[in-house]
Amino acid sequence: MSRSDIVSVLGRYMYLQKKGAKYWACCPFHTEKTPSFVVNPDEQYYHCFGCGKSGSVITFLMEHENMSYVEAVETLANWAGMEVPESESPEDAKRREQREKLLSATRLAAKYYYSCLKQKGKIAEEYLKKRRLSEETAVAFGIGYSADRFGLKEFMTGRGYSVETLEQAGITDKTGGDRMESRLVIPIISAKGDVLGFGGRTLSPDVKPKYLNTKGTPLFDKRKTLFGMNLYKKAQKAEKFDSLVLTEGYMDVISLHQAGIGNAIASMGTSLTEEQCREIKKAANLVYVCFDGDAAGEMATWRSLDMLQNAGLEVKVMSMPEGMDPDDVCKSYGADGFRKLISESKPLTEFKIRELASRENLETFAGREAFALKALPVLDALSPIGRDAHIQLVSELSRLSAESIENSLKDYSVTRKQPRRSESKPKEESVEEVSKTELKNGRMLLKAILDGADYADIEELDEGCFALPAHRRLYNLMRSKREQGIKLRTGDLFTEEPDDAKELEAVIASQDGYSAESAEKMYNAIVSAIFKRRKKARIAELTAKIKLADGEEKTRLEKELLKIINLRK
Ligand code: UTP
Ligand code: MN
Repeated sequence: MSRSDIVSVLGRYMYLQKKGAKYWACCPFHTEKTPSFVVNPDEQYYHCFGCGKSGSVITFLMEHENMSYVEAVETLANWAGMEVPESESPEDAKRREQREKLLSATRLAAKYYYSCLKQKGKIAEEYLKKRRLSEETAVAFGIGYSADRFGLKEFMTGRGYSVETLEQAGITDKTGGDRMESRLVIPIISAKGDVLGFGGRTLSPDVKPKYLNTKGTPLFDKRKTLFGMNLYKKAQKAEKFDSLVLTEGYMDVISLHQAGIGNAIASMGTSLTEEQCREIKKAANLVYVCFDGDAAGEMATWRSLDMLQNAGLEVKVMSMPEGMDPDDVCKSYGADGFRKLISESKPLTEFKIRELASRENLETFAGREAFALKALPVLDALSPIGRDAHIQLVSELSRLSAESIENSLKDYSVTRKQPRRSESKPKEESVEEVSKTELKNGRMLLKAILDGADYADIEELDEGCFALPAHRRLYNLMRSKREQGIKLRTGDLFTEEPDDAKELEAVIASQDGYSAESAEKMYNAIVSAIFKRRKKARIAELTAKIKLADGEEKTRLEKELLKIINLRK
């Protein structure tokens, strides 16, 4: 599969679920809960049955990522360039081999720590017991223990690893000393199952820091890593999750998994990065965020929440009971308690509005006004529909009229927004100038041809069947490809006629909601109407000419008229 393949490109932005020969996802161009966005790998295009958007990899990047045509093509070329194997450069080969060596070292180290837990890890096992983590859980996460400073070095060098390699993998210092000494060791494993590094928890309350993580290495970058992705992928196979629960800590994930909540992951104790957001979006469409209670009000938290939303995720915010993290909730209230919190989670906008309200004293007019004013930027960022619903909420909470909030919002929007630059394009007959019926008919015809419907014969038609210039261009392109014997995929049309992408979208959406049978009926009706009209016009034309002609010319015209009258179409 090539890197420019529509499935692998779109898969970077959304979770694509395979059904038969196609892939489905929730549409990234409008908000929806059930997937109506379909990706067709054979034809290399996507189409949303909800909002009607369709296109190729290129139009996707242009629209979703706001790229220009050239940027989109360059981006694809870049990504395609990353797919090397055949022509791997010597440096790349070296880097890959180095990475493989480090990965085999970390994997073996994880095994060592695990065996240590079994053999010398009495205090670690007791600690696990104290935290009510089962042996099964410890095995699932590959939890281990580092008993002493040089045990790891001895074990690893005995198996052919140099101290230099150990240091490069971030598992020992220069002298071969184990950085995880006397800690409970939690492997950090990628979605693919590679051991990237370790998090070590102290077992004694006086040792700081509480967690010591592998420092940055060629394998491990905490800003790009999420903890628990490997098990989520595994759980997904059994349970078809489309959501993730994002927590802050190793122990939260471990505890939630043990409680049967298999879609929990964690950032690495740093604030969320864009890379992590993209990673999350690739794995799910909905994310439940559970930050500690006091984090809700923090700017960094709000930024993270917006980042998740901007990555295309539906974001719901869970509130944890005062002073508790998800691990504590599981311990105190069990999985059901946690699930209840999931079901009580609030959509991001509602969460923000309620959070802003909670910061003001709503008993006073000044407090309610201050809250409403602070809510304006939140409202302003919404779509018109979302805005209405949330104006209502702000109105309820502030006890100010929806009308007055709406008016303030208008003022706010006007002062805030920069004027949009209008794009002026050379004019040609536009969609508005062609009759609605002609437009609709043209779309239906093109769609049938595009689909290769057996009742649709491209050769029977000609460009004169289409009123809209864009339709004529698309028809001609398909026809010339046909004549050259080139298989044309829908996605290629977007690429070859980028200026007609909008109209092509409408073409693709034109049969949405029609059964195959009624689409066929419509096609036949349209084609026969076109030919009937043409026939009528031709007959009128010939009759007029015959009236004026005489002799041989008249006989010729009469013959032609007869022929036309007898034509089936
Ligand atoms: P917490 O202190 O909330 O950890 O830090 P926790 O998961 O609840 O741990 P327990 O329950 O006390 O064992 C959240 C995350 O921040 C990072 C770790 O990734 C941790 O899981 N962290 C925390 C560190 O990297 N170093 C630290 O010293 C503390
Ligand atoms: Mn905790």
